[in-house]
Amino acid sequence: MCGIIGYIGKKVKIERLLVDSLKTLEYRGYDSAGIAFVTDKVNILKSSGKIINLEEKIDENVESNIGLAHTRWATHGKADDINAHPHKSGSVTIVHNGIIENYLELKEMLSKEGYTFKSETDTEIAAALLDYLKKKGIWSNLEVIKEFETYIKGSYALGIIFDDELDTLYATRKDSPLILGIGKEEYLIASDVSAIIGFTKKYILLDNEDIVKLTNDNYEIYNSNLQKLDRSIQEVNWDVEEAHKAGYPHFMLKEIMEEPKVLNDTIHEYVESVDSFMNKMPDFSKYKKIHIVACGSAMHAGLIGKYLIENYSDIEVNVEIASEYRYKKVFYDKETLLILISQSGETADTIASLRKAKADGIDTLGIVNVVGSTIARECDQVLYIRAGVEIAVATTKAYLLQVAMLMLINIKLMIEHNKITNEELSKLLDDLKNSPELIKNVIEKDELYKDIANSIYEDRDLFFIGRGIDYAISLEGSLKLKEISYLHSEAYQAGELKHGTISLVEDNTKIIAIMTDKDLALKTISNIKEVVARGAKVVLITKEELDSNYDFIFKKVVLPKANNYLMPLLTVIPLQLIAYHVADNRGLDIDKPRNLAKSVTVE
Ligand code: G6P
Repeated sequence: MCGIIGYIGKKVKIERLLVDSLKTLEYRGYDSAGIAFVTDKVNILKSSGKIINLEEKIDENVESNIGLAHTRWATHGKADDINAHPHKSGSVTIVHNGIIENYLELKEMLSKEGYTFKSETDTEIAAALLDYLKKKGIWSNLEVIKEFETYIKGSYALGIIFDDELDTLYATRKDSPLILGIGKEEYLIASDVSAIIGFTKKYILLDNEDIVKLTNDNYEIYNSNLQKLDRSIQEVNWDVEEAHKAGYPHFMLKEIMEEPKVLNDTIHEYVESVDSFMNKMPDFSKYKKIHIVACGSAMHAGLIGKYLIENYSDIEVNVEIASEYRYKKVFYDKETLLILISQSGETADTIASLRKAKADGIDTLGIVNVVGSTIARECDQVLYIRAGVEIAVATTKAYLLQVAMLMLINIKLMIEHNKITNEELSKLLDDLKNSPELIKNVIEKDELYKDIANSIYEDRDLFFIGRGIDYAISLEGSLKLKEISYLHSEAYQAGELKHGTISLVEDNTKIIAIMTDKDLALKTISNIKEVVARGAKVVLITKEELDSNYDFIFKKVVLPKANNYLMPLLTVIPLQLIAYHVADNRGLDIDKPRNLAKSVTVE
C-alpha cells in the first residue's frame, strides 16, 4: 500500500530512473504518483492517476543523482495532485507509506506554531513536524529523525531530503516495509525488492525504527538511540525477468500460467520423500485447536484449510478475518496454534493479529511468500510458499500455493493423529506430486473459459454456489471476478440461497455452481434445479467422476479425475481464468483494478 523509492548514486538521468523504478511498485497503489530530485534545490513533480500521467511530465535531460519517488494508495484525502507525494514543508521533503494516527493532534500543535497545510494528508504533517523539530534545536538531521519518532503514533516508511544536506538521503520505518538496496556506487531505499532488482540483488531488511543515512559512497544504519548498526546483507533469489510479462498481455495471465511450475517447486521442496517431508514440516502434535487468520484471498485459502483439517484430522479450526481478530475477544490457549497466511507478509491487520497472539504467549506459524517479510520474521515458525514474485494485484499463484501448503500441513496432522496409513500416505504424496500436471490439463481448456466469459461479461450480477469445500472455493471465485471485472457477484452455500437471495434470481441470471464433492453432489444438483426453475442459467464446474448428461445446465467445465483431496487446486483454475477473460472482455486494467492495492499495509 503506497510504494516508495529513493535513489542516490552514479546514475544521473534521475527523472526517468525514478519513474521507471516506480512502475515496479505500482501494484502497491496507483491513485497518484510523484518524484522529488535534487539539483541546486529540491524539485518536485507529481500527478494524479497512474504513473503514466507522471511520465508524460518528466524531462529526460535533467541531471541529478539523488531522488525520491512515491506511488499512492489514498488514505487521507482524495487522489489529486495536491495530496500526491512527495510533500514539502519548510526545508523538509518526504515520501511516506503508512498512517500517522495522531496526525490531527500534531496538526493542531503545528498550526499553533504557525504551520499551514496545503493537502489533506497525514504525510504533510509529518514533513512539517520534521521541519519544526529542525528549527527547534541545534540537532543534526539524524537527531531530528530520532526525535520525530518519539512524536509519532502509527506506521511509516519514510524517505527524507533535508534542504540543508542536499547530498544525503535519509530513511526510516516503523511497521511499514522498507529495504535498503546496496549496489555498486549506488544505494536505494524501497518498499520491496522488485524496485531494486534492476540495480542490484543485494539488500538489507530494515527493522522498526532503523534510521538510514545514504551518501554517494556510503551507507549507515542507526537504531533509535543513534547507535550504528551492522545489519546483514541478503540476496534476492529471483531474476529481473520474473518481474516482466514475458509476452503475456497481463501479469495475471502470466501468473496463472506459472501455477503448474510454482506448485511443482513448492511440493518438491517439501515432499522429496516421506522422510524429508517429516523433517521439513513442524511438529504439531501438541495442538488441539487451530486458528487461521488472514485477509482477502489468503483468508479464503484458510477456509479450504479448515475443511481439510476438520474433515481429515478431526481438529477444530477457526478461520477469522485479521481486521476482526485483532480487536475481538479470542478464545485460545497454549494448545492452540495460530496460523497466519499472507502472500506479502506485510498486511497490517495480519501482523497485528500475530502480535496480539504472541503477546498472549500463543504459538504462531506463518505461511508466507515474501522471504524476510515482517510476518515471516515475527512468527515462531514459517513455511514459505515458492510463488516467486506476484505482481498482479489479484492473487492467483500465491493463493494456489497457500492452499497447497495447508494441504501439506494437514497431511502432517493426519500422520500425527494416526488418520492415515503408510500406504495411503505415499499414494497421497505421489498424487500431490502429480497435481501440477493435472493443473496443466485444466489450463489447456482455456477456450472453454473464454466461451463462458463471453456469455457472462455483459451481466450485472452473478452468483457462485457450492457446498462444503466447494463453497470455500466459490468465495475465491466470486472475489476474483469482483476484484478485476467489477461485475457484482456473491458466493453462497448452495443450500442457503433459498433463504433470501434466491429472490434476486430471474430469467437469465447466471450462476456458477461448483460440485466436486461426491457426498454432497445430489444436494447441490437439487439446489441447481431450484434456480434453473426460476430462469437461471447455470455454469457447472464438476469433475469427471460426477459428470452426467445434465440437460438443465447452460455450460459445463469437467475437471479431470483426481484424488478428492486435491480437487481445490484444480477447481480454482477455471474460476481464475473466467474472471480474467470477463475483465479482458470488459477492457479493464486487469493487473491494477481500481481502488485496490496488492500489499495492504494500513488497517
Ligand atoms: C490484498 C490483495 C489480496 C490479498 C490480501 C491479503 O487485498 O489484493 O489479493 O489476498 O491483500 O494479502 P496478503 O499479502 O496478506 O496475502
